[in-house]
Amino acid sequence: EDFERWIRGAPKCELHLHIDGSLQPRRLLELAKKNGVALPYASEADVEAACAFTDLQSFLDLYYHGASVLRTEEDFYHLMGDYLAVCRSERIVHAEIMVEPQTYAPQGVSLDTVMAGFSAAIDDASRGWGQSVALILSFLRHLPVAEALAQLEAAEPWREHFVAIGLASAERDHPPADFVRLYAAARERGYRLTAHAGEEGPAAFVRDALDVLGVERIDHGVRAVEDPALVERLAREGIPLTVCPLSNVRLRVFDRLADHTLPQFLEAGVAVTVNSDDPAYFGGYLTENFLALHRELGLAIPTARRLLANAIDASFLSSAARARLR
Ligand code: HPA
Ligand code: ZN
Repeated sequence: EDFERWIRGAPKCELHLHIDGSLQPRRLLELAKKNGVALPYASEADVEAACAFTDLQSFLDLYYHGASVLRTEEDFYHLMGDYLAVCRSERIVHAEIMVEPQTYAPQGVSLDTVMAGFSAAIDDASRGWGQSVALILSFLRHLPVAEALAQLEAAEPWREHFVAIGLASAERDHPPADFVRLYAAARERGYRLTAHAGEEGPAAFVRDALDVLGVERIDHGVRAVEDPALVERLAREGIPLTVCPLSNVRLRVFDRLADHTLPQFLEAGVAVTVNSDDPAYFGGYLTENFLALHRELGLAIPTARRLLANAIDASFLSSAARARLR
């Protein structure tokens, strides 16, 4: 009760959120109908029943199908607006949001359409209640690096909206080393660098994301526990992990939240942060992730304060903007 009241009121940062993963079942069904996209779901309950995933790929199949209903600037405006309204109500004062243009390309949706909608929603939230947002241009690792490089080029007119690049989608068979050229090109253009690693992929992928791609923080990274020397290095070098507890349980990285290794990372001095990943599909937004950790792992206020502070420090904001959040 005390914890719940405190976490709801505490200012929070979210660093690992795929905008398509915030597509609420109600909005999904509405847009499918409006845009004439056939979905095998008749109700919100049907969509929720489809969220019994067996692994990352089983989720990605639904996630990309879901995102295919987005077609017009207004659709993208509502998607971003819905999530930013959650930020306001949950007191997520700063959000770093992954945008994945390659997801919309098969439907013939241009980056101009996507970004016109997203940037209008961000402008409204920033003017409306001072919402702080940074966008991460995220690439799909199941697609060729040449396509990612072309997308990086195509994003140049929207360069000022993106603080960083990221790498998502199926990790198995798509190691960091495949994307060396992408990360070199992005670094040259002044992007900050992050990547998913060590979610379904091994600890070696976390090490390669650091050594081969040169990333500054790791999305997920939980399988780093399989290599104690790597955990020690993450702590020593201050490499943050954007951990997503409810996601890890839904995608069967851990059978139960009680098995989650977040306490081990904290114990080792790693800069762990808590995030929601794809809240519409995984059963809860950021606050619910903290509440679940409290219920299942006994997370208490002092440790939660550390997690919130870690997220400010791990953000891609300027040092002046980070100081204002502290
Ligand atoms: N892992 C990889 N790709 C993703 C995820 C994830 O958890 N969510 C959305 N795309
Ligand atoms: Zn993710």
